[in-house]
This record gives sequence, structure tokens and C-alpha cells, in this order.
Amino acid sequence: MKPAPWERVYRDGRDLFTVNRNPGARVYGETLSTVDGVEYRGWDPFRSKLAAFLLKGAPADVLGDPRTVLYLGAAHGTTVSHLSDLWPRAMVFAVEKSPTSFARLLALARQRPGLVPILADAQLPERYQADVGSAEFLYQDIAQRNQAGIFVENARACLAPRGRGILMLKVRSVTQQRPTASVVREARSLLLSAGLRVEYETTLAPFSREHVALSVRWE
Ligand SMILES: C[S@@+](CC[C@H](N)C(=O)[O-])C[C@H]1O[C@@H](n2cnc3c(N)ncnc32)[C@H](O)[C@@H]1O
Repeated sequence: MKPAPWERVYRDGRDLFTVNRNPGARVYGETLSTVDGVEYRGWDPFRSKLAAFLLKGAPADVLGDPRTVLYLGAAHGTTVSHLSDLWPRAMVFAVEKSPTSFARLLALARQRPGLVPILADAQLPERYQADVGSAEFLYQDIAQRNQAGIFVENARACLAPRGRGILMLKVRSVTQQRPTASVVREARSLLLSAGLRVEYETTLAPFSREHVALSVRWE
């Protein structure tokens, strides 16, 4: 097990791992490996777009070491669980609108201090803005037509002045008609007009064929 370029991420060959904050427990059927008394959880790029993003060349400083994180579209907590491994001192506010997924997220939060699930619609950040306060990191993975607009509204509501974030853009949820390049161009220009500069951008193929990841920070 060797340190990967991203802080607190490890690599064994092509596989990524994080140190399990909750030893012995799996979240989504991932592999557990113990080396020198430390338990590592496999981070599956086919199940977590963030792992795919790292493997697709995301810069070493793309994650940073935030104290407050706003995560939109947490589902059952697959990726959130790895963030909670990576950032043990952070408060991770995880927004999910599906009550079914939220029940599993709630169970995960009971095992992971610092993980705060919020049952809400990410299109209404005013509902949770006061709880979150100022977030240093914003992550979004929701399949909505106006994904970039939702990201911008949440950044305006909650992202700290020197904050950064990642938008996982599901192109086909925006439109079935236009080519990927045009959808991404439109998202990028919306982000830029709000003051969010795209620092790194990549498709997530072969891990996910439908997504383009954009990492941003305030200009
Ligand atoms: C692809 S799944 C997220 C997977 C998760 N990010 C992971 O990597 O573990 C997308 C999730 O976004 C949620 N979602 C979609 N629209 C939403 C909205 N407007 N507000 C909050 N959650 C939303 C869905 O219910 C679904 O659970």
C-alpha cells in the first residue's frame, strides 16, 4: 500500500484505498485490506465518481483539507463514506432528497462522527444554509436538468470565499439533443459568470460514460 498523489488516499497497483474510520465495517461491499495493523477500504471508481475523477488525472490538491463540506446528492453514502475517511476532522453535510436513500445515509451517520445527513432538495439551499454555514468544499452529484444552476446557487449560499468544489455533470440529464461538448461549454460558462473558475475537467470514461467532472474554485 503506497500513498497516492491525493492526501490520505492510498494505492495498491491501480486500486485506490482510504483508511477505514470504522474498522471491520463495509459500506457498499468494498474490499477491506489490513496492512501493518491499518485497515484500508477499496475505493471503487465504478461506484464512486470521485474515485474515477482521481484516476482520470485530477490534480494532487483537488481535495484539500476542508473543515466544512457540503455534499449534494449523497444517496446511500458510498462516496460520502470515503470523504469521511479522508477528512476525519471535517463536518460533512450530506443532502439527499430521496427518503429511501436517506434512511441508509442516516444509519451510516450513526457510525461516522462528523457526517450530518440532511433530507432536503438541493434546489432549495435556503432550507439548510443556516445549518451548513460557510463550506470550504462543495460536491454535487445529482441528475437534474439544471445541474450547473443548482451548483451555482449552492455555492452562492454556502461556499466560502476561498472555497472549491467539484461538479459531476450528467450530460444526458441536461439534454438528450445536444452534443456533450456543447452541454459542458454551457455549464462552464454559467459557472464562470457566477465567478467560479474551472481548474480541471475530464470525462469519467471508462468508469462512467455519462459524466464530465469539473473542479472549480472562486476566481
Ligand atoms: C447518482 S446518485 C448519487 C451517488 C452518490 N453521490 C455517491 O457517489 O455515492 C444521485 C442522488 O442524487 C439525489 N438527488 C437528485 N436530485 C436531487 C435534489 N434536487 N436534491 C437532493 N438530492 C437529489 C438522488 O435521489 C440520488 O440519490
